[in-house]
Amino acid sequence: MGILSGKKGIITGALDQNSIAWKVAELCHQEGASVVLTNAPIAMRLGEIKKLSEKINATIIPADATNLEDIEKLYRESMQHLGGKIDFVLHSIGMSTNIRKNIPYTELNYDYYIKGIDVSALSLHKMLSIAYKLDAINEEGSVVALSYIGAQRTFPFYTDMADIKALLESIARSWGYHYGIAKRVRVNTISQSPTKTTAGTGIKGFNEFFDFADIQSPLGNATAEDCAKICIMLFSDYTKKITMQNIYNDGGYSSTGVSQKQLDILLSNVNNN
Ligand code: NAI
Repeated sequence: MGILSGKKGIITGALDQNSIAWKVAELCHQEGASVVLTNAPIAMRLGEIKKLSEKINATIIPADATNLEDIEKLYRESMQHLGGKIDFVLHSIGMSTNIRKNIPYTELNYDYYIKGIDVSALSLHKMLSIAYKLDAINEEGSVVALSYIGAQRTFPFYTDMADIKALLESIARSWGYHYGIAKRVRVNTISQSPTKTTAGTGIKGFNEFFDFADIQSPLGNATAEDCAKICIMLFSDYTKKITMQNIYNDGGYSSTGVSQKQLDILLSNVNNN
């Protein structure tokens, strides 16, 4: 008996085995949940998600998370496959063409910016609004979206995604209120450490920043597996009163001004010059 025994969930964003969503799906299965996997139709062509679906015995339903019809179909078919309403949803979707093309914040392309907002933030709003309309999520269900501390503090390389993650967190709070009142559904975000995934490593200078964050955090960077454990906790019945929160899963990074290790590296560089 796992802590998600008998629960039914929808997991977005498992692209390959490095994806945070991949680890979440595996752990959900291990903890007794039945899941539907979904991703953008284009991600299906890579074929990796099929391996995961076979491993955890999950159905795949392709859906572009910016498309309302796709989302409606996703919920309707998921409820059919899983035999009832949904208990939890993971939103694990992020994409910025400005970042991918290495365009600085001061010169953002606005078409890319708007696309980034739609894919990475409005998609959460759309997924919740369709669920609400269809009454697809069980009372006391749980929705989790993944965020980054760039929503609160400035990191030059994070360009438009900083603004987009701030919007994502606000959408989670607003829906947490409305869905909470209506159905006691929880909506939270997890602010995750830099993690070596396709989306993460697409950011210029990611490896250097990954090491910086690791040295800065008293507990070191949180891995995708660590993130999966927090997701499972939030999907479970042990967290029924946690909602509208942004939970830092970052080894203490967000509360550290500077670590001694960071200062020692700086001092040794100064001494060597
Ligand atoms: P990933 O690249 O494995 O996952 C991103 C997913 O978004 C992919 O599966 C992709 O196919 C999906 N996606 C893109 N456009 C879509 C659309 N229109 N419809 C449906 N799905 C779409 O990378 P990762 O890192 O696992 O990303 C998951 C989430 O975690 C993202 O929200 C990301 O911003 C967030 N995050 C990642 C961190 C990192 O350092 N990797 C740190 C903090 C948060």
